[in-house]
Amino acid sequence: MTVNGERRAVEVKDNELLLDVLRDKLYVKSVKAACWKGECGLCTVLLNDLPVKSCMVLAMEADGADVKTAEYFIKNGELAPVQRSFIEHGALQCGFCTPAFSLAAHHLLQRNPNATREEIKEYLSGIICRCTGYKQIIEAVEDARKYYQK
Ligand code: FES
Ligand code: FES
Repeated sequence: MTVNGERRAVEVKDNELLLDVLRDKLYVKSVKAACWKGECGLCTVLLNDLPVKSCMVLAMEADGADVKTAEYFIKNGELAPVQRSFIEHGALQCGFCTPAFSLAAHHLLQRNPNATREEIKEYLSGIICRCTGYKQIIEAVEDARKYYQK
């Protein structure tokens, strides 16, 4: 598969999860895990440019696919606009959920830079933050819209 723009070949068992292969065999550590059952959303990645919970995907299903994680959107050491907005708005404490939130928010704003507050909430509703609370996260994404509007 292609991971963050780089072709990667890895041997997997037929029951191995994309999440575990990314983290443990390819060392993509921005992809977090907490539940392994599709509930927390912390393992969200883009699979062929669609957000998926990587604990719900067998690694074999990603054979030949394009996988992107939060690292992909950092160019020449520069964070993506929505990632910067998270910092400006204090939208993180421990940061454990931040890769998933910022990845999903970036994906949304690239496709819908005029997303309403309700649309943002709906889009991010599958991801759980255990410490910051959602107010700052939603505000960070709302404020980042200006960077995605042409
Ligand atoms: S680890 Fe995948 S949804 Fe929680
Ligand atoms: S910032 Fe800690 S889980 Fe969200």
